[in-house]
Formats: sequence, C-alpha cells, structure tokens
Amino acid sequence: MATNDSKVWFITGISRGLGRELAKAVLARGDVVIGTTRDGTSGLEARAGALHVLTLELTDAARIPQVVKQAHALHGRLDVVVNNAGYGLLGAIEEATAEEARHVFDVNFFGPLRVVQAALPFLRAQRKGHVVNITSIAGLAPMAGSGLYAAAKCALEGLSLSLAQEVAPLGVKVTLVEPGAFRTDFLSQHSRRESQGRIEDYAKTAGAVVEYLGKISGKQLGDPALGAKAIVDAVVADAAPLHLVLGSDALRRTRERVGILSGELDRWEAVTKSTDLTGPEAAGTLRPS
Ligand SMILES: NC(=O)c1ccc[n+]([C@@H]2O[C@H](COP(=O)([O-])OP(=O)(O)OC[C@H]3O[C@@H](n4cnc5c(N)ncnc54)[C@H](OP(=O)(O)O)[C@@H]3O)[C@@H](O)[C@H]2O)c1
Repeated sequence: MATNDSKVWFITGISRGLGRELAKAVLARGDVVIGTTRDGTSGLEARAGALHVLTLELTDAARIPQVVKQAHALHGRLDVVVNNAGYGLLGAIEEATAEEARHVFDVNFFGPLRVVQAALPFLRAQRKGHVVNITSIAGLAPMAGSGLYAAAKCALEGLSLSLAQEVAPLGVKVTLVEPGAFRTDFLSQHSRRESQGRIEDYAKTAGAVVEYLGKISGKQLGDPALGAKAIVDAVVADAAPLHLVLGSDALRRTRERVGILSGELDRWEAVTKSTDLTGPEAAGTLRPS
C-alpha cells in the first residue's frame, strides 16, 4: 500500500511521451502511479504495488468514471490526478471536418472533463488533492494551423481556471501545465492527425505552420524527462503554481501574447469603458466582484 509520506498519482496516457516520463519520475520519487494506456500495458518496471496500469480510451465516456473509481479503490485515495493524454489536429480551421473537430474535443477536452468530474467526489471527500491538466502553449498563444486543437486546450484552460476557484476552499489544488515543443511523438505521424481537405488560400498561413511542425518533429527543444521533473517539482512545492509554462519557446510566446493583450487593453481602454451605464441608471448597478 502507499505510505502516508508517498503520493498516489493517477496519470492518463503513460504509454509514451510526457506521460511515460512523468510516470518514471513519480516512481523514482517512491510514489505510486496508477496510469492508463489504451491497451492496458505500459512496459514500465516498478517495485511491487507501486505501478498499476488500467485500460482507457479517452473517447469511451462511459468507462472513465469506472476507471477513476477503480483507481481510487486501489489505495483508498488519489492525491494527484493528471490529465496528460492528448493529440494534435493540424490544418486550417476551415479544412477540418465536423468529425475531426468533435474527436479532437472528445480526447483533449471532454475526456479530461470526465476524469475531473469522476475524481472530484473523492478529492472533496479527502479535503485534499491536486488536479494537473496538461494543456499546451496552444492554449495560451495559439498559432495558425492547429486552431481546433488550440480551441480544445483553451477550453481546458478556462475550465481549470474556474475549477481552481471552486475547489480551493475544499483543499483541492489545480495546476495547468503549458508545454512548448517537447521531443515526444506528439508531432510524428504516430500521434498527430491532419485534416485532409486542402484549401490553397491557407497555404501561406496554416499550411506553412503545418509544414514547419512536420520539419521540427524529432528536433523539438524540450526534453520530456526534464518536463516531467518540472511537473513533479511543481506539484510537491509548498505553493504549487496555477500556470506552469514549460520551455523557453513557450515562455517567449506567452510573453508576446501577454504584451499584445496588455497593449490592446491600453489602446482601447476608453472604448472599453465607454459601454458602462452612466447617469442615474448607473447608481443601481451591481458589479460582479
Ligand atoms: N510534445 C509536445 O510538444 C506538446 C506540446 C504541448 C502540449 N503537449 C501535450 O502533452 C500531452 C502529452 O503529449 P506527448 O507530447 O507526450 O505526446 P505523445 O508522445 O504523442 O503521447 C500521447 C499520449 O496520449 C495518449 N493518447 C492519445 N490519444 C488518446 C486517446 N484517444 N485515448 C487515450 N490515450 C490517448 C497516447 O496513447 P497511445 O500510445 O495509445 O497512442 C500517448 O500515451 C498531450 O496532452 C499534448 O497535447 C505536448
């Protein structure tokens, strides 16, 4: 059984990439991993009782609550719940089919939502726990060429920012991990999906980005083992961050985005404020805190 000093981590997608490195880093700490893969095997080695692998395909909505319940029953608690599994859909927004859009949201947004909803009754009962949602730099500063993936990750960002406020008084923490480009299978043909429709008008925007992403596959800046270590360090820190941006590429893009937003707020401030009621009607206004 897990000791009082160790943590029990539930991690989706430990077959490859960041999830696999995270599972290794957690096991190396002496903590317990309950990981999911699509075939129920991981190939990872661990001391007896430290690693459990459950089968989960994230689009199988009905199975998610069963898997989370099964995970909780293994050690009688869940300390850290990591939504890691995901994939990128590349192509211009207009090029995507409705089915591609639905699937990318099913895996990257509705899957994590269902995991969180299934885990929360346990975390609330414990009055402690930590939800870690791995989104992406695409969820903070989207580029052309992966708009629907970015939309799903932005949705997970919004959900997490609200969730953090709802569960903080109940002792549950939330951290968003926003990686830049990491050297995993993420951009390889094994993982990425590409909309098949091609519209020539997007060749220089979305098309150019998709071509660039193909070229950097296997040559990304981020080391997944160091990314995993950074996630573990953040989770065990006294004051865990709400946002954990990983990689200097992600840092640069986030700073650019914040600068653009801040500049536009300043430039358009007068217009922004011009829509408030004025005069006698303003007196009875209630403002959200
Ligand atoms: N690497 C990057 O550059 C990068 C950047 C930003 C964000 N991220 C995010 O980081 C997370 C991990 O990605 P990664 O880089 O480790 O990619 P990866 O090497 O392609 O691994 C993806 C993992 O997700 C699992 N997965 C994919 N679709 C699934 C589904 N429908 N049901 C269950 N499991 C599924 C895969 O399982 P199988 O082995 O069965 O396919 C695999 O374990 C993702 O959420 C991704 O969006 C990655």
